[in-house]
Amino acid sequence: MIPCVPKTDLPLLYQTPDSWAAAALQEPLALLNDHAHLEKKAAGNALDLLNQWPDPVAPENWVERMTAIARDEVEHLAVVTRLLSRRGGKLTKHHRNDYATGLRRHVRVGQGPRELLDRLMVSALIEARSCERFEILARTCEDRELSKLYSGLWASENGHYRVFLDLARNLPLRGAAGRIEARWEEWLAIEARTIESQSPGPRMHSGVAARSMAC
Ligand SMILES: [Fe+2]
Ligand SMILES: [Fe+2]
Repeated sequence: MIPCVPKTDLPLLYQTPDSWAAAALQEPLALLNDHAHLEKKAAGNALDLLNQWPDPVAPENWVERMTAIARDEVEHLAVVTRLLSRRGGKLTKHHRNDYATGLRRHVRVGQGPRELLDRLMVSALIEARSCERFEILARTCEDRELSKLYSGLWASENGHYRVFLDLARNLPLRGAAGRIEARWEEWLAIEARTIESQSPGPRMHSGVAARSMAC
């Protein structure tokens, strides 16, 4: 029996069809390589945010939560690279993620607390999208080892999504709550447009081929 994870209650505005997974899994080593790089970048992002707390003092548990996420991501990286290597693959030296790059274009760089709010929301969205993709892969992948990998990672990424969003929602911004929720709604729309416009391929954040969309 293929392991399964709960259907998510993610707020994402674009729902990935199951046909995405079959296309992405056509090159499992390439998908694992892309996945490994994403785990590395997620670890780096958490470490980078570790001391980027809002002035004047770090909110309670900020450092601990970033540290915990970075540790989780490094553990995921180890698991994925081990599997990649065991299956005869190699981690590539270079990697690009047009989806994340596309999201970051909308970060209000240089605008102090607004930049931090955006960075936390982008982090939450990347985690949420990865979580959605893991759920589909875990449910549809017929390779039991891969299916187990994806179902095992699902809960962790779901937890990370919630931590980043919680930190964003609790930032001490002036006029806060309404503005923060309005920005989250904007980000959800940006994310949906961005993921939908990606090209298809063996990547965690790839788009859906026109042929698959018709299925
Ligand atoms: Fe991860
Ligand atoms: Fe994560």
